[in-house]
Amino acid sequence: METIAVYPGSFDPLTNGHIDLVERGLKIFDKVVIVTLNNRAKKPLFAVEERLAMIRDCFKGMDSVEVDAFDGLVVDYARKRNANAILRGMRAVSDFENEFQMAMFNRRLNRDVQTVFLMTGMRWIFTSSSGIKEVASFGGDVSGMVPPSIEKKLKEKFHKAYSKG
Ligand code: PNS
Repeated sequence: METIAVYPGSFDPLTNGHIDLVERGLKIFDKVVIVTLNNRAKKPLFAVEERLAMIRDCFKGMDSVEVDAFDGLVVDYARKRNANAILRGMRAVSDFENEFQMAMFNRRLNRDVQTVFLMTGMRWIFTSSSGIKEVASFGGDVSGMVPPSIEKKLKEKFHKAYSKG
């Protein structure tokens, strides 16, 4: 039977670190479903539809990667998809506390799905969507940290923000 990992996140926007994690996930699972969810602690820059379109564009032609959005708990989405695991990336020790807490909540909510942590590649250890947004908002260079299509979207977004005054 096909093994499925659900990879939840804000993906606001998707970074090369996320892509690296999907590629690693595919070495273990037959399919990785990238699902954008709401993180109540964050106000997104890109609307869900924009994020979905950007992510889909990056994985087009890859049948083993699916892209979806869900408004609710990740465990409910995992159940709906009959997923074997929730996939999350770990960059540094600073990620641990939050990830540990989320994994424990998720385990309490659904004992049938396991959280699997994978380490991102060393190149992406400092890469974060929030850091990228901050740099891009000041017109800094984020090439090499996000795919070129997403770099373009960031430029458009911040250009619009500036021109609105
Ligand atoms: O990319 P992020 O912002 O670190 O992802 C966090 C996310 C979206 C995975 C997390 O906030 C989440 O799972 N939200 C959906 C609600 C939920 O299931 N919460 C339970 C875990 S505490």
